Amino acid sequence: MAAELLRFPDRTSATGKEIDAYLRKEVELSDEGVHQLFSRNRWEKAAEMRELLLGGTTLVVDRYAHSGVAFSAAKDVPGMDVEWCRAPDAGLPAPDALFLLQISPEAAATRGGFGEERYETSDFQKAVAEQFLSLRDDTWRVVEAARPIEAVHAEISELALAEVGRCQAGGVPLRDLW
Ligand code: TMP
Ligand code: MG
Repeated sequence: MAAELLRFPDRTSATGKEIDAYLRKEVELSDEGVHQLFSRNRWEKAAEMRELLLGGTTLVVDRYAHSGVAFSAAKDVPGMDVEWCRAPDAGLPAPDALFLLQISPEAAATRGGFGEERYETSDFQKAVAEQFLSLRDDTWRVVEAARPIEAVHAEISELALAEVGRCQAGGVPLRDLW
């Protein structure tokens, strides 16, 4: 089975470098502007993702448009409601399965490196978690992440392989967000 790992933001492209500087608090950007930048960072990969998917490659994507909506909407900025936040990602390839790794902000805060980047405060993480849960529909699987990595891996790989099997059996068209 061909599979590739992608991660968003992809910090290697020009937009990704700007996002990286923003997350590391080296530059300031408007909330609206950085939201668009995260989306552009995904659109840069859209054609490549579509080509890989249509060729039968499974894509494992670490964060996607749903993070874009949850993080930006959690800022509670007037005008940046969920509908506004979703708009720039409309038309990107949609995932066949989505796993939300759930962890309390308290447990997350004990993990290495927490607090270094923008957004890594317990209060904001709580607001983001609420957004994720309100965006969730029955196609999402919520996975308890405050467990050893092997246990999290075993659960996700079982669910993911079942989904890959379903897609490979055919009849699952490539859909667009949203
Ligand atoms: P990560 O590399 O640790 O996943 O960090 C990326 C950070 O950027 C994380 O705090 C989530 C945030 N983010 C957004 O705000 N919007 C997005 O569209 C994405 C993909 C991530
Ligand atoms: Mg991080």
